[in-house]
Amino acid sequence: MKKEEFVLPSLKVAQRRTKARSNIEKELFEIPHEVKNLGVDRSFYLRTYGCQANERDGETIAGILETLQFTQVNTPEEADLIILNTCAVRKNAEDKVLGELGSLKRLKKTNPDLMFAMCGCMAQEEEIISIILEKYPHVDLVFGTHNIHRLPQLLYQAMMNKERTIEVFSKEGDVIENLPVKRFGTHKAWVNIMYGCDKFCTYCIVPYTRGKERSRTVEDILEEVKELQDSNFKEITLLGQNVNSYGKDLGLDGGFAHLLEEVAKTGIERIRFTTSHPWDFSDAMVDAIAKYDNIMPFIHLPVQSGDNDMLKIMGRRYTVEDYKETFDKLKAKVKNCAFSTDIIVGFPNETEEQFQRTLDIVDYCQFDNAFTFIYSPREGTPAAKMKDNVAMEVKQDRLNRLMEKTNGYARQQNVKYEGMVCKVLVDGPSKKNKEVYSGYTEQNKLVNFVTDKKLNPGDIVEVEILEAKTWTLKGKQI
Ligand code: 5AD
Ligand code: SF4
Repeated sequence: MKKEEFVLPSLKVAQRRTKARSNIEKELFEIPHEVKNLGVDRSFYLRTYGCQANERDGETIAGILETLQFTQVNTPEEADLIILNTCAVRKNAEDKVLGELGSLKRLKKTNPDLMFAMCGCMAQEEEIISIILEKYPHVDLVFGTHNIHRLPQLLYQAMMNKERTIEVFSKEGDVIENLPVKRFGTHKAWVNIMYGCDKFCTYCIVPYTRGKERSRTVEDILEEVKELQDSNFKEITLLGQNVNSYGKDLGLDGGFAHLLEEVAKTGIERIRFTTSHPWDFSDAMVDAIAKYDNIMPFIHLPVQSGDNDMLKIMGRRYTVEDYKETFDKLKAKVKNCAFSTDIIVGFPNETEEQFQRTLDIVDYCQFDNAFTFIYSPREGTPAAKMKDNVAMEVKQDRLNRLMEKTNGYARQQNVKYEGMVCKVLVDGPSKKNKEVYSGYTEQNKLVNFVTDKKLNPGDIVEVEILEAKTWTLKGKQI
């Protein structure tokens, strides 16, 4: 296939937003007759990097491949098709994928028919596609985040016609329903409620790789939740880059608060959601979380920085005072609520004073968990054009100081649970010790516990917490 025949991503198109509403497409996915048995006697290995949206996409990709009769295997050595489902949020995530693509190439020597596919957020980047075209000729298929539903046709082209195939749409297109799914969990599941992001925080590549914000309908979401409930799933996590914006594009009354209530009324045991942007966290949402016992008291609320000027340059739309107000409301209204956050250090020109204010907000909130990152410039974002006067050693030092603080609070928050009895959703025997079970509390804390009973994944049991560590709790079933 000639280069002209590839469908390549365009940053210009990805940056654009139109008022046009996305359609809900229920019949777009189809399997052409000649592709139906493509996977007979063939296996695939899928590796997913990055966020939960990618994990959930991985389940769709696996679902499509199994519909085409491929068999999933657990090591790349056994596979006829290797798929890397990639993340673009920071450069180190990309370097990992490119390294992996390089090292897996050796497998083509022993298996010349082996196919490599790359998809996910990296596939949406112009720069990455140029690198793949130039330096990774062994990658046979590239598809993006907006055309997963085209996988049957694209695979056929790459596999049967033996043509290098690159198809990446830059415009997000519609909300596509009724794609196959292979759930990787047995009692916990992801449920997409919306796709894309329109916040355009100045450091973030996601609005370009995942397109404009578009919501699924309440009915389609509830139908999926009920199906999961019927299949014995106990916990669902509602997914969106910013769930607080849910329904705005559809002009739905009540937005995410209404959806949360409707999902809670299904009676499914545990509901979680991620991610919430502090800017549009409404009082109605706080009230809904407080009202229903099956909405878990655990909020991931990325603060990013504790300095108002920095928040402005980041394009976050809230001040530290706004953040504290939302945090305080949740803390006051939602009983025994746990909080996690995301923080970026070393944003261009961040001063020591500004960094100190980030430490101050950590002292104020005393997060149960914090994901901390050094700023990574992303091509095409406004921040990538900013001159930066902060040396990498300074950024690393700030990250270390920040982590020391956040780890301290993580441990301190866990210690509060010593002596308490928590409800734990059982995942199964612990990875390290088969005599011990592990699971998560309502506040999303990992508990390893002993019991004299035989438990199954999906059971909810009461565990007395005996000892707190920084990242886990130890206990015994009562
Ligand atoms: N550099 C560093 N961290 C980033 N994040 C997003 N973009 C970048 C970037 N360019 C972080 C934010 C976000 C989390 C998912 O990743 O903290 O909340
Ligand atoms: Fe990125 Fe901001 Fe959207 Fe989150 S809300 S995905 S940080 S642009």
